[in-house]
Amino acid sequence: MNPSVYSRYRTAFVEALAQALGVPASEIDSQIKPADPAHGDLSFPTFPLAKAQKKAPPAIAASLAQSVKVPGLEVVAAGPYVNAKFAQMPFTAEVIDAARSQGTRYGGSDVGAGKTVVMDYSSPNIAKPIAFHHIRSTMIGHSVANLHRALGYRVEGINYLGDWGKQFGLVAVGFQEYGDPAHRKDMAHLVEVYVKANKRAEAEPAFDDRARDFFRRMEAGESDALALWKEFRETSVRDFERIYSRLGIKFEHIEGESFYQGKMEPVIEEIARAPGVKESQGATIVDLPYAENEPPVLLKKNDGSTLYATRDLAAAIDRHERFRFEKSLYVVATDQALHFRQLFRVLKAMGREWSERMVHINFGRVHGMSTRKGNVVLLNDVLDEAKARAMEKVQQNIQEGAIQTDNPEALAEQIGLGAIVFGDLKNRRATDYTFDWDDVLNLTGHTGPYLQYAHARTCNILRRGGGAPASYDASLLTLPEEQAVLRVIAKLPVVVQEAAEQAEPSFVARWLLDLAAEFSRYYTLGNQDRSKRVLVEGNEPLKAARLALTDATRAALAAGLGLLGIAAPENM
Ligand code: ARG
Repeated sequence: MNPSVYSRYRTAFVEALAQALGVPASEIDSQIKPADPAHGDLSFPTFPLAKAQKKAPPAIAASLAQSVKVPGLEVVAAGPYVNAKFAQMPFTAEVIDAARSQGTRYGGSDVGAGKTVVMDYSSPNIAKPIAFHHIRSTMIGHSVANLHRALGYRVEGINYLGDWGKQFGLVAVGFQEYGDPAHRKDMAHLVEVYVKANKRAEAEPAFDDRARDFFRRMEAGESDALALWKEFRETSVRDFERIYSRLGIKFEHIEGESFYQGKMEPVIEEIARAPGVKESQGATIVDLPYAENEPPVLLKKNDGSTLYATRDLAAAIDRHERFRFEKSLYVVATDQALHFRQLFRVLKAMGREWSERMVHINFGRVHGMSTRKGNVVLLNDVLDEAKARAMEKVQQNIQEGAIQTDNPEALAEQIGLGAIVFGDLKNRRATDYTFDWDDVLNLTGHTGPYLQYAHARTCNILRRGGGAPASYDASLLTLPEEQAVLRVIAKLPVVVQEAAEQAEPSFVARWLLDLAAEFSRYYTLGNQDRSKRVLVEGNEPLKAARLALTDATRAALAAGLGLLGIAAPENM
């Protein structure tokens, strides 16, 4: 894939400046900033050169602007800056053609070709209610995986189920007390049992001991305990699958903590050699210099059972052996920051240099989430409720004639899910936010449905205009509002790159809002001035050019929504 239009011009500008100044391009590159929009697109400040050249910055800028010549860029000095502006042509045609020809692949590149990124995301605990933090991990992880795939990386997405541990003991002994055998394959029932058992274990140590004992029997490989575990696990996985298929998520691997059962001894032995282990109150811990009050890394409890950290150590090594990753990402709540810091530190102390390529992609909490069903938040309930609420709006809009669709049900699903997903991804992932049904579903706010609507509107314009034109004259797109739309479209490849590097889907979310806003500004010009309408009358060439821009906007919106894991309905 060719470099994007934007980065091609940027590189050409950098190289021309470097040549004029007789310095390596790498020295110029980091100094290029977006220009003040009134002055152009790219800006190079000359202050840092003043000392060496013994000249005033404006004089340097003026002479540089004279000597820097790049086809397709208008280079001018503005005070101490050398500014470059994309010339109306060929830039306009190049951007429109790139977006239209690449469609939903627009924004991607092949910088990641031949490299593998391992992504641990979603990773819910089975037989336990899925908390909203798993929903976040699922959606953020899905988008970060999409972003890397768009850049040509091979993504090994792992759903690392919390399928081993005392919680199983709780469900199992809880089932003996509160379970309804007729509903043993029903996830909601399992969750209910878990919640009751958990409460009881907190109040009654003897009950807790029974749960612990059940887990001990699992670790000892007792077949009846394992058979029950397997059944609960299958029920949970089946329930999760429904969610993943609704969200369009496919994991390359569904495994889990249980996978490392019986595979931890060699790891513990390796740690014993370096950095060493020691006993602490009967438990085995990693021998590391710990900060004051820092809880030590536990490898084995005093009853010999292994822990979350032990399994993650084994899993990290296994993943490196299987995938030889460029990066290994863990999309997990900020609450587990210490766990991951310690995990990476132990691996480093074991001499595993690749631990430096592991990153905890953390995220903040969500407040205020509850569904009509109550406060144990099950992901499927959230999605169902989102759909039901979207359905109310869809029905209402159909009645008012504002929405046309032959499948309100499917549309409500797309809008409801789009609302939840965008509501989650629009904020920087590390910030906490408060969930509000009306905020995420609002058709006019900064929401998923608003963006879906913006996309559907471009489709609608194209339909009314007789379809996207095969040929058009891009030089006719001279309105400042048209040029503003183009500039946002041109940015997507840069945004995708940055969003992937920082594992920050919110960058794409913000870009989508920018594009929708710019397009809307352009589109509504026609309300005041008929000559500025997209479907302008009596000027076929101009109409074709505007339809081409509309089509490029459509493709870019669909590409951006796709990167976030949001459907782009063509009608709504
Ligand atoms: N199941 C864990 C939890 O719910 C998350 C697992 C994250 N991944 C990992 N490799 N530790 O808290």
